[in-house]
Amino acid sequence: MNHLIAPSVLAADFANLQRDVEMINSSEADWFHVDIMDGVFVPNISFGFPVMEAVKKYATKPLDVHLMIINPEHYIERFVSAGANSITVHYEACPHLHKTVQAIHEAGAKACVALNPHTPVELLKDILYTLDMVLIMSVNPGFGGQQFIQHTYQKIAALRAMADLSNPDLLIEVDGGVSISNAANLLAAGANVLVAGNAVFSAPSPLSFISDMKRIHPGQSITI
Ligand code: DX5
Ligand code: ZN
Repeated sequence: MNHLIAPSVLAADFANLQRDVEMINSSEADWFHVDIMDGVFVPNISFGFPVMEAVKKYATKPLDVHLMIINPEHYIERFVSAGANSITVHYEACPHLHKTVQAIHEAGAKACVALNPHTPVELLKDILYTLDMVLIMSVNPGFGGQQFIQHTYQKIAALRAMADLSNPDLLIEVDGGVSISNAANLLAAGANVLVAGNAVFSAPSPLSFISDMKRIHPGQSITI
């Protein structure tokens, strides 16, 4: 499949949110990535339902909602009602992950599990068959604009090998420090959804940047 691009709204200008949402609508991006942080699971607070609903009001593409919160199972129905098309919960925040994934599916959304940089992909072996997507964190969650962790490539390749056996259609999303300079290698390792926050919104032309990201091929050599 062709890879997908999911700009992270966290890096948008919140004082001009409608403008930035409409810019993504008119771009070649595939999804909106929506980062929800609770100040407990991660050391930062982003935004909640009112801002997410404001994004949904103007967005013409699916909302990919990344919950960096404890007890995400308490809020699944509300996030789906607020417009989430896919919901990502963290492995590290879910003692009853299978049940939480079931609840996401029952609420009518795609289910995704995120792994922090220290969490091995092998821990997903017995749940991989039921997931739509796995999100590999390539920075420690909590903030945009951080430096990409190189070890991520190995995790993606190992996860892709696992998925080939039990869930060949699994989407693998990478989140944190993604840019033009590492996108080709991430795709070559087996990722097919790229989240980008700062790289999109601080580009001189976010629209051209997104087009360039869409046109990258796995393993293509990149000059920056
Ligand atoms: C970090 C968030 C990311 C963040 C990515 O915890 O999950 O989605 O917005 O931002 P960049 O692309 O700037 O690293
Ligand atoms: Zn995210």
